Amino acid sequence: MTHASLTIDPAFAVGDVDPRLFGSFVEHLGRCVYSGIFEPGHPAADENGFRRDVLDLVRELGVTTVRYPGGNFVSAYRWEDGVGPDRRTRLDPAWRTIEPNTFGLGEFVKWCAAAGVDPMMAVNLGTRGIQEAVDLLEYSNHPSGTALSDLRRKNGDAEPYDIRLWCLGNEMDGPWQVGHKTAEEYGRLAAETARAMRMIDPRLELVACGSSGASMPTFGTWEATVLQHAYDQVDYLSLHAYYEPLNGDVATFLASGARMESFIEDTVATCDHMRSVTKSSKRINLSFDEWNVWYMSRHQAEEQPGGWRPAPRLLEDHYDVTDAVVVGSLLIALLRHADRVRMASQAQLVNVIAPILAEPGGPAWRQTIFHPFAQAALHGKGRVLRVEADSPAFECAAGEVGALHATAVQGEDGSVTIFAVNRSQTSPLDLAADVRALGEVRVLEHTVLTDADLGARNTADAPDRVRPRPATGTSAADGTLHAHLPPVSWNVIRLAPVS
Ligand code: AHR
Repeated sequence: MTHASLTIDPAFAVGDVDPRLFGSFVEHLGRCVYSGIFEPGHPAADENGFRRDVLDLVRELGVTTVRYPGGNFVSAYRWEDGVGPDRRTRLDPAWRTIEPNTFGLGEFVKWCAAAGVDPMMAVNLGTRGIQEAVDLLEYSNHPSGTALSDLRRKNGDAEPYDIRLWCLGNEMDGPWQVGHKTAEEYGRLAAETARAMRMIDPRLELVACGSSGASMPTFGTWEATVLQHAYDQVDYLSLHAYYEPLNGDVATFLASGARMESFIEDTVATCDHMRSVTKSSKRINLSFDEWNVWYMSRHQAEEQPGGWRPAPRLLEDHYDVTDAVVVGSLLIALLRHADRVRMASQAQLVNVIAPILAEPGGPAWRQTIFHPFAQAALHGKGRVLRVEADSPAFECAAGEVGALHATAVQGEDGSVTIFAVNRSQTSPLDLAADVRALGEVRVLEHTVLTDADLGARNTADAPDRVRPRPATGTSAADGTLHAHLPPVSWNVIRLAPVS
């Protein structure tokens, strides 16, 4: 047994959590839309073809925003194909699939209302530009009396969609992107698109594309150049990152949260540097609008994307216990930077690298990674406290990383939730947390997600094989909380003041 400690003191806060930190992402990719959220004819489908079983799980997951329609898909997308009675079937070059466009903007907005989430819309800045972005905005948000707002009304939606959150393109730094651009080209286009969109609707919140990953050769200079052009026009810069165990290196995989934190801190540094360069008074915050575990190297080796078929099975990772613990650590990393990472979207929501799996005509169930997200979204409301953990460190490709990764969130009622991951593969941690500053507290709950078989997964036949379970032996007395954190585990410990 090794010892770990941390101190919780409400006097030291990171900042308030924006509920949009718990966003998700629906792309026209594989079976995320078709036979994911939308499957007319499914026994659980409602009158719109939305799967009610999936909607129930989305609500339980606690998702607050959903980014749409891509992803790489958006960079060749014509939104007009997906509205009105005459839908056009198109080739999707990003994933080499056939896109029937039977689900489009109007369906998405209706689905968001059913799911109780806010839409986050991306515009195509790959093959298209300012005019199409402004047209889409007029169709979406203008009440009536213009060609495009009246077209929306004719298509059955009398009320404006009032979409406030917009992404200015997707991963424009990536050579794989349709319409890939240099930072100079993209920075100018993003700035002018933002300016034109704000002329139509000044209430918008706009996200410019940052880097598609910290290992991109342009990381750092991309952000600086884009912000040189667009600093005053945008509110957020995006980050994207996916993690996987490479060559069986589980230690480094378990340290993914540390790598995510470095990526965030480096991006914040560039944003703040550009604040002084541009002499601006505002701060650019971050939208981490794609993050997850993704076994990308396996897909690259095995999958020929699409094959020009509609809704093929693409990127359908089946997650195990270790993946769930890493996702928990990624959530901790986001919370620990909640002052600057105001929004985030786990990629993606259903079937495609997703917390929810849904079979065509069959059941939907929670993957292992569903649980840390749902618990963080449920209990991660309030103010993040600055928690400095002390624990034995191990060496890996991410550097020297402590076994304990933790954060704490204080709710309005004074309760405090500690989210803690033990990254060690061998040693349980005996945690002693100094909670004297909270006054007298009692332990409401300690759940732990771990397993003797770290490769265990949830399946249609055993959908609850992996889930958080009550932990035993957790106590709080005389200002110290004691808890046992098994190796490779995700822990949620809830404390309430004794009044
Ligand atoms: O989420 C899957 C893909 O990953 C998205 O389409 C793209 O933006 C990223 O590269």
